[in-house]
Amino acid sequence: MSNAAAPTITWVGGLDGCCELIEQTLLPNRLEILEVEDQETMWDAIKRLAVRGAPAIGVAAAFGVVLGVRRSAATDEDAFQADVAATCDYLATSRPTAVNLFWALDRMRTHAVTLRGQGIVAMKQGLLDEAIAVMEQDRAICHKLGEIGSLLVQDGDGLMTHCNAGGLATAEYGTALAVMFEAHAQGKSITVFANETRPLLQGARLTTWELQRAGIDVTLICDNMAAQVMREGKVQRVFVGADRIARNGDAANKIGTYAIAVLAKEHRIPFYVVAPCSTIDLETPSGDEIPIEERPPEEVTEGFGSRTAPEGVKVYSPAFDVTPARFIAGVVTERGLITPVTEDEVVRVVTS
Ligand code: MRU
Repeated sequence: MSNAAAPTITWVGGLDGCCELIEQTLLPNRLEILEVEDQETMWDAIKRLAVRGAPAIGVAAAFGVVLGVRRSAATDEDAFQADVAATCDYLATSRPTAVNLFWALDRMRTHAVTLRGQGIVAMKQGLLDEAIAVMEQDRAICHKLGEIGSLLVQDGDGLMTHCNAGGLATAEYGTALAVMFEAHAQGKSITVFANETRPLLQGARLTTWELQRAGIDVTLICDNMAAQVMREGKVQRVFVGADRIARNGDAANKIGTYAIAVLAKEHRIPFYVVAPCSTIDLETPSGDEIPIEERPPEEVTEGFGSRTAPEGVKVYSPAFDVTPARFIAGVVTERGLITPVTEDEVVRVVTS
């Protein structure tokens, strides 16, 4: 988070310590810290969006692996590796779309293999060190994204964003919001339209909270107001995050993002995706192969307490959609700007 009252996610203490994270379901009304002591609580925190946003989910998963194996009773290294693998498989079932989850689990699994021969106590400590490295690298990468992305922002710009791709969605600073924090820090005058992001209101609850705290001029709009706001000439650029970017540049992000991209194209407004390379999945050829999470109907019919639809009504609730690469002016990564957004450019920048 920028102007952090608390880190979005961190580890406190040694191997016997715990993972602390902001309980995001309570924001903006209450800022509470959840202490996570075991892998089941971490799985649940990811599933119910206590910790959310692709990079933050990756960090949470890395800590989840530590929580899952730190008290492993394995007495030989093969049995310990099997515990690591079982914990990774379990955490991988929490949410399907953000590839950072699988990226972090693979990284932990691979790291465990490199620790072979050191003894189980050292392997446990080595996994904690690796999870902390995942978190610290994410912090550094987000600041880099801000630096690179802010070059695209001009003084006086009206910007739009969808969902929350801020410090709350990462270890710190954010992806799309890092661009705004950085532009603001450089003294550029910006105004941000934050789409509320039905059904769970990450834009209304989290993005406006973060931008307000950073002293950035932010205006909340309902999702269905975006076209009118663009038509009125109030938006010069759109910046969003991503949960998974396919090899051809198609980008999955929070449901509603695709509609914003189509609207942006119609209004000749450049639409940028901001994401670390860990969000780019070269194994997934196109957006058609990205698994889209479906969320429970209650999040649509009674998301925040009172019912807003009749009992028994059918609900369909995909949590993400895919914006085809042709709608994306550029993808800001820590390795530079991918533009045009083609398979060749994606591969070139990611492997550079
Ligand atoms: O369901 P959520 O809140 O985890 O969805 C989050 C998003 O869609 C973000 O835009 C994305 O993860 C990028 S976060 C830097």
